Amino acid sequence: MRGLRWLPFLPQEAGPVARDVDAAFLALLALTGGIALAVLGAVGWFAWRYRAGSAVARPAELRHPRRIELGCLALLILTSFATFAATSPVYTGLFHPPPPTLKLEGLGKQWMWKFRHPDGRREVNELHVPAGEPVTVVLSSQDVIHSLYLPALRLKQDVLPGRRTRLSFVATRPGRYPLLCAEYCGTEHALMQGELVVLEPEAFARWQAAAPEEPPGAREPDLYSGDGPFVRHGCATCHRTNSDRLAPRLDGLWGREVRLADGRRLRADEAYLKRAILEPAAELVAGYEDASPMPRYAARLDAGEVAALLRFLRAARDGWPPTEEPR
Ligand code: CUA
Repeated sequence: MRGLRWLPFLPQEAGPVARDVDAAFLALLALTGGIALAVLGAVGWFAWRYRAGSAVARPAELRHPRRIELGCLALLILTSFATFAATSPVYTGLFHPPPPTLKLEGLGKQWMWKFRHPDGRREVNELHVPAGEPVTVVLSSQDVIHSLYLPALRLKQDVLPGRRTRLSFVATRPGRYPLLCAEYCGTEHALMQGELVVLEPEAFARWQAAAPEEPPGAREPDLYSGDGPFVRHGCATCHRTNSDRLAPRLDGLWGREVRLADGRRLRADEAYLKRAILEPAAELVAGYEDASPMPRYAARLDAGEVAALLRFLRAARDGWPPTEEPR
């Protein structure tokens, strides 16, 4: 369906799926709106016809004209099947895309979008894709539920921690389009936005050749991905890489000097960090005098997990990626 652009409330279109979704949406709106108007009209008409004092017949016994009842039933059944037949290809098309020529990884985290291209190139809050080619983004989250929303393609996909979801699309019209988070995910949810940049294939090739491998912020040390003990035991809930409000940041901590609440200064070596994990209340860090949020892990972790966490912290000393993955 062409030519819906005259409707002023529709966002820009970046690809054919936008037209299909718009057409389905407007058809359903017209259908349900039509039914609603017919019902309202009937209510109004009966209210007027059978108003108090009107001289119309009010027989005690009601007739049920079978032809009208069956006709209504058949009409409704046919309408719902026709709706299904007309719209389901749009929906199934989203989940059976052609094999992608570009398959990216996308990561949602509080509060930014990161994308990694197959050649290792990384982007933050920008997603460059070639026009006219099938693209698949494999998505996951580092913390809470986000939702990747591309209004110009009428597409939205939840992004979940510990699970992979995917979003496939073909964007045909070069341009810059909004890329948003559509799931409330914390204080800066509204700022978790960027741009989908659709480029002609030649321009995309030029961009690939020219883009820096590492945009600023793309490689900030990252303690949250993976299914190691750090995530499993909930450490990532408070120890964040972008905030030290709830708990001290752990990236770059290994080997650094730490000031304790009682005024002592310690080197954050392996022995100290191990004590801090097992008995967090024993040596409180200055600024975090209330240790109650952090549980004692002495009874919860086995020796292997403690060792893995220590390896993890050591690997995060110089940033990401760590040389050793905790298991
Ligand atoms: Cu991420 Cu809202």
